[in-house]
Amino acid sequence: MASTCRVVVLISGNGSNLQAIIDASQQKDYPARVVAVLSNKTEAYGLHRAQAAGIDTQIIEHSAYSDRITYDQALMQAIDHYQPDLVVLAGFMRILSDDFVQHYENRLLNIHPSLLPKYKGLHTHRRVLEAGDKQHGASVHFVTPSLDDGPLILQTAIEVRPDDTVASLAKRVHAVEHRIYPQAIRWFAEGRLHRKDNRTYLDNTELKPNAGT
Ligand code: GAR
Repeated sequence: MASTCRVVVLISGNGSNLQAIIDASQQKDYPARVVAVLSNKTEAYGLHRAQAAGIDTQIIEHSAYSDRITYDQALMQAIDHYQPDLVVLAGFMRILSDDFVQHYENRLLNIHPSLLPKYKGLHTHRRVLEAGDKQHGASVHFVTPSLDDGPLILQTAIEVRPDDTVASLAKRVHAVEHRIYPQAIRWFAEGRLHRKDNRTYLDNTELKPNAGT
């Protein structure tokens, strides 16, 4: 990508991943910048984080729309106003229509708090504890129409300790997320990241994240 990569970030809540991306983008050599933050929730704290960084924000509440297709169309229109090179889901807790996903094909990333393909969906920390897993972690992937699915880009594992709780796991997984999301966005912005079918390539090497990255 020749010029700075324009990123639109979608959030629903706290926005700690958004903050990590904003912080990274304020480094001199970072090749991407957040041009807008959109939320489906008025109370999302991440909106304050964006405003504090001087970034445009917009709230598009789903309750104002009759169905998913209509909502997603409004969302796409709002996003496209900013002419993004990349759209980043950072705790955006909505299922996306196929139209939406296709519209941003190969330029739509998501982060998920588990070692995908394990634990798609909600309550990942609780489910890891209930299953007695020894490892947990976070994954960044290209978005496909299936929920929390799509070719993996980066994945990092943490060890689950005997005394871990949902809160302690969430804290350590978040710390991992704040590292891998800005890294994946950097690769994309540098034009080094490519997706072909269900595979992801960094430069010409296939990425096979297996919790070791
Ligand atoms: C993050 O842990 C992210 O992985 C998760 O929501 C949290 C948002 O935190 N996303 C999903 O579960 C998507 N399926 P944040 O608002 O502090 O960035």
